[in-house]
Amino acid sequence: MTPIKECLINKSTKINPVWLMRQAGRYLPEFKEIRKVNPDFIKLCLDHTLAEEITLQPIKRFGFDAAIIFSDILMIPHGMGQTVEFKKNFGPSLGALELNKLASVSDKDLTEKLSPVYQLLSNLKNSNDLKNKDLIGFVGAPWTLLVYMVNKISPKNGLSQEFFKDEVIINEILGLLDKFIKIHIENQIKAGATIIQIFDSWAGLIQNDFDKFLYNPTLSLVNHVKKLGVPVICFPRGITDYIKFTKIVKPSMINIDYNVDPENLIKSLDVPVQGGLDPKILLSDKENLRKQINRYLNIFKDHPYVFNLGHGILPETEVEMVYELVETVRNYK
Ligand code: CP3
Repeated sequence: MTPIKECLINKSTKINPVWLMRQAGRYLPEFKEIRKVNPDFIKLCLDHTLAEEITLQPIKRFGFDAAIIFSDILMIPHGMGQTVEFKKNFGPSLGALELNKLASVSDKDLTEKLSPVYQLLSNLKNSNDLKNKDLIGFVGAPWTLLVYMVNKISPKNGLSQEFFKDEVIINEILGLLDKFIKIHIENQIKAGATIIQIFDSWAGLIQNDFDKFLYNPTLSLVNHVKKLGVPVICFPRGITDYIKFTKIVKPSMINIDYNVDPENLIKSLDVPVQGGLDPKILLSDKENLRKQINRYLNIFKDHPYVFNLGHGILPETEVEMVYELVETVRNYK
């Protein structure tokens, strides 16, 4: 059994597997080289040969316990026919939201459009570099995808107040997302994903209707993944009540963000935990990094725990610090 599954299924507290959210990409020199000559990000995600190389880059360097496929949560809106572009120093920019067009997309259309993602997974499935490691497939949660599809840009750059005005449209998009995300999950599992992670990066923006925007749509996906026999990790970044979330949604493992107080959380939590360390710590010095890593490992000493960050690794991170992180986790006793 892989180290992460030992932790997640057997609830072992003896080992601390390690991988990092957003490990494949932006901070790695060898990724930047590829990116420089591939200006179209979506096209790069759909080039399964290059995507395979990028997925394996962090594994070859650091020997993480899992590979996460090089892809993006916005491949779903792309697959549904909404234009998605990535602009330098700005981030994603989505095109007009034409509901009629989205509603006419079939399961087969989406599967065909995203087929290089599934090809990527089947190519990686038997890779020598991934022996005894997990291969993580992922999706964005309906709420976070809804935010991008309606707002068209990252809420970091401003959230449109028009957002909640039209409930009929919101409900229709949520319905379509539930359907298409499930297809994407199923295709990834069939192609070789051994774990699915659900990224709800903007869950912290939800102010009311938690059932409608957070609990119900995530539970629906979690049950779908479980039915397919694969563990599912949830990352509802920025929510205030992780305990309530795990009680309702029951993920196989919960990824906590860096605003969560781990000491307080652990008292009433009964699912395996992943993550937590503030990615900014990787921009400080090695001594501080070791200290902060040991703090998390000490707190979760008697709890199944996969070492990871409390959000994606930052582009400014130096690879030296990542080596130090892995070594510190591996040498922890
Ligand atoms: O984790 C990995 O290494 C695998 C690949 C992966 C990417 N995006 C590649 C990527 C994963 C898991 C994601 C998830 C993702 N994408 C999320 C959820 C996680 C999070 O960080 O909150 C979100 C919100 C997105 C949407 C997205 N994609 C944004 C906002 C941006 C621009 C800013 C940024 O993060 O770089 C992207 C682009 C993106 N996705 C890059 C990579 C490697 C950078 C592309 C570049 O080189 O310009």
